[in-house]
Amino acid sequence: MKLKEETTEKLQYHFPEGFWWGSSASATQTEGAADIDGKGKNIWDHWYEIEPNRFFNAVGPQDTSQFYYKYKEDIKLMKEIGHNSFRLSISWSRMFPKGKGEVNKKAVDFYNSVIDEMVETGIEPFVNLYHFDMPMALQDIGGWENRDTVDAFEGYAATCFQLFGDRVAKWFTHNEPIVPVEGGYLYNFHYPNIVDFKKAVQVGYHTILSSAKAIKKYRDMNMDGKIGIILNLTPSYPRSQNPADLKASKIADAFFNRSFLDPSVKGEFPSDLVAILKTEGFMPAMAAGDLDIIQQNTVDLLGINYYQPRRVKAKEHARNPDAPFLPELYFDHYEMPGRKMNVHRGWEIYEKGIYDILMNVKENYGNIECFISENGMGVEGEERFRDENGMIQDDYRIEFISEHLKWVHKAISEGSNVWGYHLWTFMDNWSWSNAYKNRYGFVSVNLEKDAERTVKKSGHWFKKVANMNGF
Ligand code: NOJ
Repeated sequence: MKLKEETTEKLQYHFPEGFWWGSSASATQTEGAADIDGKGKNIWDHWYEIEPNRFFNAVGPQDTSQFYYKYKEDIKLMKEIGHNSFRLSISWSRMFPKGKGEVNKKAVDFYNSVIDEMVETGIEPFVNLYHFDMPMALQDIGGWENRDTVDAFEGYAATCFQLFGDRVAKWFTHNEPIVPVEGGYLYNFHYPNIVDFKKAVQVGYHTILSSAKAIKKYRDMNMDGKIGIILNLTPSYPRSQNPADLKASKIADAFFNRSFLDPSVKGEFPSDLVAILKTEGFMPAMAAGDLDIIQQNTVDLLGINYYQPRRVKAKEHARNPDAPFLPELYFDHYEMPGRKMNVHRGWEIYEKGIYDILMNVKENYGNIECFISENGMGVEGEERFRDENGMIQDDYRIEFISEHLKWVHKAISEGSNVWGYHLWTFMDNWSWSNAYKNRYGFVSVNLEKDAERTVKKSGHWFKKVANMNGF
């Protein structure tokens, strides 16, 4: 992609014509209305029912930000703050209350109406199919552990393509598929909260297979659009130049980045990952023909979520006793001199990471068409930044976004095929077990006052950036 010739003297960072400006969100985190109009339970509804105290302030997924009721007003607001695109997800258990079988007519009406509203407003819908929300009926048979779930996902995907594909031209099979593996099967922060490395590998494998099968379906159906996947590509940097740390950071990269990136873009699994799984006896169960399907159905488009890097140190203690080859992953870098931290949440801020990812994709992944599908800053207790006129003065977020955009701009000037920037997220939303603890939006949501929306300073700033196509 070429940067447009500088036509304006004022802009220091001018982005290519047609750059995708917007934000991203997911169904469970925003819709609310979790138990009405025929929606079936998903793992979040179930987990909250049995363990409400695992959620911050015991706030569950039932209400969230009420997008189900307020989407018309929200879509208007998106337009007002400069969006030309927005990513949402479809709730699998709203469409198919039992995960498969008969489609829920009210869900179809809802998503049709949301998509129509977006198209009429001039906001391109980017639609993701799976965002951590396994229907409970399928989790009861093992969720991604069970190969039948792959078939159910293919059916769900085909229905969505058929019903909405006339207006949606950018589809994604999964968002951050490594996260349900880590959370649900390694580190106990997503239901089913199992710690079992063998199952984790099987779950990851089935997820990849489901993505390839959905992509195949999309192409077999001759749909007119592009299909991709959204991955959280977390650069893996060694904590020191000590050989053990260097090795550990490569292993972390194989397990947590390349495990999904390579099959999705290149159609093959990384050989170093396969070698470890073979040696350690953790190869997943596969069926004949699977690898051909994965090989032949790679993505058209790659969404990249980036928040912070991984600083990897060789293992000191066994966090996963059955997977001693997994390195320890550190995100708390306070003691590392020179590291910039988000003082409002505790994550590292390393803007250059976004550039490193884009250059890696350019150099090692055929410079596939991509965009920043999530980047953002979570802030705890953000109400304290509200001024007397009611606006959240989030200058820290403006700085965060602009510093990352500068690196995206640099990547473009060096030939990266990156086509957009979506902030996580449009309005403050429910962040899984953290519920509403950390606020990320361009728009604040007042939970005490019927989820009232107020645009933050960053939303007003973004409007200008998007309208000028730079800053
Ligand atoms: C990534 C996920 O896609 C999203 O669901 C989550 O809320 C954000 N990161 C913030 O942690």
